[in-house]
Amino acid sequence: MRAFLNGKRVDSGKNMDLRDKKDLTILAIESSCDETAAAVVRNGREILSNVVASQIDIHKRFGGVVPEIASRNHTLALPNVVEKALSDSGLDFGGIDAIAVTYGAGLLGALLTGVSYAKGLSFALKKPLFAVSHVRGHIAANYIAHGDLEFPYICALASGGHTAVLKVSDYDDIRPLGSTKDDAAGEAFDKAARVLGLPYPGGPEIQRLAENGRTIINFTKPLSFGGYDFSFSGLKTAVINYIANNKIKTDKTEDVIERIGVENDGAKADRIEGIGVESGGAKADKTVGNGIENDGVKADRAEGIDVENGGAKADRAEGIGVESGGVKADRVSCRADSKNGTENGMRFKNGITRADIAASFQLAAVGQIKDAAVRAAVDLGVKRIALSGGVGANRKLREELAAACADLGIGTYFLPLGLCTDNAAMIAAEAYFMIRKGKPCAGLELDAKATVGI
Ligand code: KG4
Ligand code: ZN
Repeated sequence: MRAFLNGKRVDSGKNMDLRDKKDLTILAIESSCDETAAAVVRNGREILSNVVASQIDIHKRFGGVVPEIASRNHTLALPNVVEKALSDSGLDFGGIDAIAVTYGAGLLGALLTGVSYAKGLSFALKKPLFAVSHVRGHIAANYIAHGDLEFPYICALASGGHTAVLKVSDYDDIRPLGSTKDDAAGEAFDKAARVLGLPYPGGPEIQRLAENGRTIINFTKPLSFGGYDFSFSGLKTAVINYIANNKIKTDKTEDVIERIGVENDGAKADRIEGIGVESGGAKADKTVGNGIENDGVKADRAEGIDVENGGAKADRAEGIGVESGGVKADRVSCRADSKNGTENGMRFKNGITRADIAASFQLAAVGQIKDAAVRAAVDLGVKRIALSGGVGANRKLREELAAACADLGIGTYFLPLGLCTDNAAMIAAEAYFMIRKGKPCAGLELDAKATVGI
C-alpha cells in the first residue's frame, strides 16, 4: 500500500522529508473512547486549536460508554470537529504539514472511525499520515504544558484504560516500570462511583462527593507486588462489600421500582424509575431520571439529571445538576443550581456517609499511584514526576503527590485539566516528536488496534 508525502506517492514509512523542516504544523484526530477530538499544534508544543466534543451526556444514561453508540457518534461528529479545529487554528489545509491519528489503544470501532477519517484526509490532501499510540499521546501532553520539563522524568499515567509508572528518558525512550494488574485507576473510580449511585464518569463525581467526606474507612491495601505495579480490583470489591455490609435497611412499600441501580430505602413511593435513583426515607409520588437523590423528602415530583434533593419538602425539583439540600421549596428548577446544606444519599451504620466512603476510596486509590511513582523516582534517582491521564486531574492525587515530593526535593508537573483527559492536541504533540525522531509515516493500510504496547 502507498502513502503520500508532499504530494508524491511514496512507499509508506520510507520518505521522511518532514524531519528537517523548520516548522511543523500537525492536524490530529482522536476518537479512542467517548471524546471526538481534533487539534492543530505547531512544533509539538504550541496549540493553535483544540476541539473536544464529549459524548458523556449520551453515555451517562447507560452508566458507562457503549462502544457501538460511541462509534456512531464519532462518525457524526468528526467532520464538524475537524472543520472547527481547522478554522479555530486560522489555517486552511494548505497550512497543515501532516495528519496524525490515534490508532490504539481503545475501543476498536471508535478508533476505526478516526483512523478511516484520517486516512481519507491524508489521501485527499496528499499529506503524510502518522499513527499515534494513545498512551504515548497522554505522555506527550506534558511537552505542551511544560516547556521546562527535562529528561529523565517519571510519568505516572492514570486514565480510564491504563495505569502505569514509566521512566521517560527521551521523547522516544520510554521504559515501563510498573502497571496495573487488573483494573485501570479510572475504571476503579467509575465502578466505585456506580455503586455509590453517582453518574458516569465517576472520577470527578467521587472527587466532588469526597470533599465533604472523612477518610475514616481503612480500605485494605493490595499486597505489594514488590515492584511498581498496581491493583485496583480488590479496592473496588472492598467498596462494594462495605456498602453491602453497612447499609441500613428499612421497610419499604413499593408500587413501582424499576431500572438500574434504583435504591429505595424506607420509601413509600408510587413510582421510582431511572438510573442510579436514590430515594431514602422518602414519601414521593414520582421520582424519574438519572442519578436523582431524594433523601428524607416528601416530594410530589423530582425529575431530571443529577437532581439532589436532600431533606427537602419540595413540590417539584427538576433540571440538570440541581441540588436542593434542606430546602423547603415549592419549585427548584434550573441547571446546576446548588442549595446545599446536607450531605445526602444512602444511610450507613455508625454515622458513615456516602461522602466518607468516597473520600476513603479516593485516598486509597490515589495513594497507590503516589506511592509507586515516588518509590520509582527515589529508587532510580529521578528528580521529576509528571502526572498524565484523566485521573491525573484528581485534586487529592495532586495534593498527595506534591506533598510527598516536596519533602524529597522531587519536582512535580501537573497538566491543565483539558490536557489530562482525552484530547487530540496530545496526539499532535506525540506525532511531532515521532517525526523529529525519524519515525516512519503510516500507509493507507493502517488499521486500528484495541491494544498497543508502550
Ligand atoms: O484519560 P481519559 O480521559 O480517558 C482514557 O484514556 O481512559 O480518562 C478518563 C478517566 C475516567 O475513568 C474518569 O472517571 C477519570 O479519568 N477522571 C478522574 C477525574 N477526572 C476524570 N478520576 C479521578 N478524579 C478526577 N478528577
Ligand atoms: Zn486517554
